[in-house]
Amino acid sequence: MTGSPKPTVLVTGGGGYIGSHAVLALRDAGWPVVVLDDESNSTGVLVPQGVPYIKGSIADRPLVAGLLREHGIGAIMHFAGSMLVAESVTDPLKYYRNNTLASHALLEEMIAAGVPHIVFSSTAAIYGAPERLPIEEGDPKLPINPYGASKWMTEQMLADAARVHDFNYAALRYFNVAGADPDLRAGQIGKTSTHIVKIATEAALAKRPHVDVFGTDYPTPDGSCVRDYIHVSDLAAAHVAALEQLIADPDENLVLNCGYGTGLSVIEVLDALDVVCQRKVPRAIGSRRPGDPPQLVASNRALVETLDWTPAHADIHQIISDALAWERKLKNGKPV
Ligand code: UFG
Repeated sequence: MTGSPKPTVLVTGGGGYIGSHAVLALRDAGWPVVVLDDESNSTGVLVPQGVPYIKGSIADRPLVAGLLREHGIGAIMHFAGSMLVAESVTDPLKYYRNNTLASHALLEEMIAAGVPHIVFSSTAAIYGAPERLPIEEGDPKLPINPYGASKWMTEQMLADAARVHDFNYAALRYFNVAGADPDLRAGQIGKTSTHIVKIATEAALAKRPHVDVFGTDYPTPDGSCVRDYIHVSDLAAAHVAALEQLIADPDENLVLNCGYGTGLSVIEVLDALDVVCQRKVPRAIGSRRPGDPPQLVASNRALVETLDWTPAHADIHQIISDALAWERKLKNGKPV
């Protein structure tokens, strides 16, 4: 990319948790950015000063068509969508609407405007409850909840459309994203977070009485669920590296797991929290949460081999301490 001008990147959902970190990573690397966000799970407070910010939906076709042309968008990073596994079970049509149908609308407008690259926010949830670990990209896609199914449908749309239209895409399958920008310019503020690291840091700061461990009777070493936690800033850096790769090789698409390839149990995460806090944060052993697969651990071989990307924050203690520092900045859910 050195030497060639960087195209303007539309970041959908750029006001949200992962999108806002991608905005920072893009800007730090010198890319012009435009943010489109409907504020369904954000407020715009994480969007840096000077970034053109449009409040609206990716499903609003005239809005999207207009801004793609007006801002001369040359690539899209697509984060906008709904992302709570449990909610997707109780309100499945919301997930097919916000994740699948809205992505379809965005994709058609993108193709009509001739935008040549898109990086899509996919998920490990497309694999369901896998039989073997670590999970390779070619392993069976058998989602066990509508959230995973809605994202897998979008991946299939991208693959089919990219065969016949003039664009290439990256589908980045996130494992468990956690932490905050180490400079505390962004972090998780979602109105509806149910994620373990967020909940645990809230408990550590007495914003809630304790953290629940959802099940200790899984077929895992300590009985609690195992996940592959990735620092949000490393994930954001992977997006920039993926976009650079899409531009460098417009004939190739990228489908990549995003994790460190290391599994940690819920209990191990809470033990790491205790180490960071130098005290025991109250926890309560509870029953299983519906829809949780016992173990999800990525093979990140393809990610490491394909992209110019090296993790810089691959330590659960750093993930937790950055998340904790960010949580300390929040008053009534807003950074101060
Ligand atoms: N957990 C608890 N207590 C809590 C919250 C969570 O024990 O208060 C447990 C869950 O039961 C699960 C683990 O912590 O075993 C991780 O749960 P999260 O809610 O933090 O994350 P999920 O694994 O459910 O889902 C996340 C993303 C999905 C993504 C998935 C892929 O939200 O979008 O990771 O690994 F698909």
